[in-house]
Amino acid sequence: MRRIPAWIAVGLVVGCQAADEGTAETPATWGIGRAATAADIATLDLDVAPSGAGLPPGSGDAVRGAALYQAQCATCHGVNGEGIAPNPPLVGREPREGFPFGNDPKLVRTIGNYWPEATTLFDYIRRTMPLTAPGSLSDPDVYSVTAHLLVANEILPAGATLDSASLAAIRMPARDRFVRDNRQGGREVR
Ligand code: HEC
Repeated sequence: MRRIPAWIAVGLVVGCQAADEGTAETPATWGIGRAATAADIATLDLDVAPSGAGLPPGSGDAVRGAALYQAQCATCHGVNGEGIAPNPPLVGREPREGFPFGNDPKLVRTIGNYWPEATTLFDYIRRTMPLTAPGSLSDPDVYSVTAHLLVANEILPAGATLDSASLAAIRMPARDRFVRDNRQGGREVR
């Protein structure tokens, strides 16, 4: 999806009109900045839809992902994904029965017991993690660490590999607990 307007890439200029020139006219250009290139936009146009639309080429595997996780994620999220406060846990399947999160706010929501889409995990990690260096992982790295987390949550078998097709095909344990929001942004808003 190409929803990020090009001007974001070159910055927003506000309130720079030179009042002392005595003209109310806005110049055709401000004479600063440049048009965003396709490469500029590509660095920002990263969103992945729940369907998997927008997933990049490449692949990764859980074995590599486990090593990456220990090197780049475990200091905050724990060696086994148990979370080190205030950083959230990333692994957990309990409670496996029912979906009592609304009744008990103390229950911990994790990838394994709560996230409805695996594609969102890729999207989230690629755009935001590691917290101190978001965007530093290559796409194969993100596939690998996503595979590792899905193995740790008992969603994929040990040593699994992932690419765009296999990631989009995963059915998360909590998938049926959510209704897909198919609003188009107009009158049909429920
Ligand atoms: C410096 C600490 C730090 C590091 C390193 C780090 N994270 Fe995080 N992570 C966080 C914090 C804090 C949050 C919660 C952010 C929020 O809720 O806004 C988070 C949230 C997450 C979440 C969402 C959890 C949820 O259920 O809401 C995932 C997934 C995740 N991190 C994966 C990773 C991965 C993969 C790595 C390594 C590549 C990583 N993180 C490295 C601090 C860290």
